Amino acid sequence: MEWLSFLKQYIQGPRWIGAIAPSSKYLAAKMVKDIVFEGASCIVEYGPGTGVFTEKLLATRQPGTVLILIENNARFCHMLRKKYGHHQNVHIVHDSAVHVDQYLRQYGVNKVDYIVSGLPFASLPTDVSLDILGKSRQYLKQDGGFITFQYTLIKRGLLKQFFGNVSMTRVYRNLPPAYVFSCSR
Ligand SMILES: C[S@@+](CC[C@H](N)C(=O)[O-])C[C@H]1O[C@@H](n2cnc3c(N)ncnc32)[C@H](O)[C@@H]1O
Repeated sequence: MEWLSFLKQYIQGPRWIGAIAPSSKYLAAKMVKDIVFEGASCIVEYGPGTGVFTEKLLATRQPGTVLILIENNARFCHMLRKKYGHHQNVHIVHDSAVHVDQYLRQYGVNKVDYIVSGLPFASLPTDVSLDILGKSRQYLKQDGGFITFQYTLIKRGLLKQFFGNVSMTRVYRNLPPAYVFSCSR
């Protein structure tokens, strides 16, 4: 039961997990809605957790698109490897998204088409958020997209520090309801 496992991880590290349950399939659908999958060479997902967004990405990506999942929780990483470890062009990394640059180099990726982030920026330490957002901007293609969700609007200003365009949609069918932010340079 994934939600139980999720709740346990939340109790052990609320600041890093940032949610008591995995996101809904409705939120997942909104997270990938604006992605143009044709021609995308690399998509990075931060904080995939139990893989709600990963499922959508895998279902729609083209077989040649490299998908890099970066998850710093050991239990979730183990689950992700069991579920998706056999897929071609999928790399599952157990580390912090702070080190995204290191893994892009390792997998021979210069620039990224999309970053899909499940990270809880509202509770992460500010220096960690700044580092991750700075590197994300640096490695995104000029027309690439950074897509994230949050439960409140308090980090909208932070996203605007890094991205010129930040648009937002509300998703009610999630516990709690969430905002999806679609950002580009
Ligand atoms: C709110 S949960 C979202 C999980 C999943 N994407 C979902 O929507 O159900 C946040 C996830 O980010 C992961 N996480 C937190 N800080 C991280 C970091 N610095 N690098 C990578 N993953 C991180 C947590 O372990 C957790 O899986």
